[in-house]
Amino acid sequence: MTRRTASSRALLRLDRISVAFDTVVVLDGIDVDVRDGEFVALVGPSGCGKTTLLNVCSGWLAPSAGTVDRPARLRMVFQQDGLFPWLTVSENILLGLEQVTDPAERKRRSEALLELIGLRTFASVYPHQLSGGMRQRVELARAIGGDTPLLLMDEPFSSLDYLTRLKMRRELARILREQPRTVVLVTHDIEEAAQLADRVLVLSERPARVRDEIVLDVPRPRDLTHPEVVAAVHRILTVLGIESEDTDTNGDRFVETAVQQAAGGGQRAASGRKE
Ligand SMILES: Nc1ncnc2c1ncn2[C@@H]1O[C@H](COP(=O)(O)OP(=O)(O)O)[C@@H](O)[C@H]1O
Ligand SMILES: [Mg+2]
Repeated sequence: MTRRTASSRALLRLDRISVAFDTVVVLDGIDVDVRDGEFVALVGPSGCGKTTLLNVCSGWLAPSAGTVDRPARLRMVFQQDGLFPWLTVSENILLGLEQVTDPAERKRRSEALLELIGLRTFASVYPHQLSGGMRQRVELARAIGGDTPLLLMDEPFSSLDYLTRLKMRRELARILREQPRTVVLVTHDIEEAAQLADRVLVLSERPARVRDEIVLDVPRPRDLTHPEVVAAVHRILTVLGIESEDTDTNGDRFVETAVQQAAGGGQRAASGRKE
């Protein structure tokens, strides 16, 4: 299996981002660097500001304070209904290839994407004729097809049933191995974060701050029962106050938290990853 290693260059950099809606402070001084090729997951309690943070990343929402350096081109992957219902699967995928002008090349690439997601024989059906998991695969193919370096995903699998979610995680890991991208995934699903991300940032209750950072140096796809995944899940639940520190998972030794390593300083939590 080939390993994709993130470079040390930051593709996305959030510097002291704060967001307030009227008097409600949602984000409070968030620093995040996402390196080129890295997969970062943001987890946190419902309503803490995850979607708000992703909207700041995409540029859709201007922060009240702080600065964002982002690549010129990026793509959002939505939870559901991101496809145009009046277009076929293949037409939806072609929409993601708008930068490719040569018709023959567009056709070749859309067919390769259909192959990648295993839906070649579904090219001319409409989204309502597909299952939720299939629709989400088309959504991924459309996002990947654009060659944009950065994918921002907001709870992309949360409308799917549990087994389909598990399959989609493997599918995403496989697609990223074939077509590497930098990814920021927002999810309330802690297992999803631990199974997929190179780094998990755990946000606090609103106003959101980065409470902890967990580095997972394990190739994808990962089993849910992999000791580092189990240990990461336990650690996140502990940070969120749902499990206690002394629960015996035998896993903490596998997990390294850069925030802890930075011991007391560490405002910019991204710097502690071991390579
Ligand atoms: N446009 C807005 N105007 C006012 N309040 C908002 C707006 N968008 C989000 N909020 C509030 O900000 C908080 C965080 O929302 P959100 O980022 O959607 O949380 P999450 O995605 O973590 O569940 C919530 O309390 C929400 O009500
Ligand atoms: Mg949200």
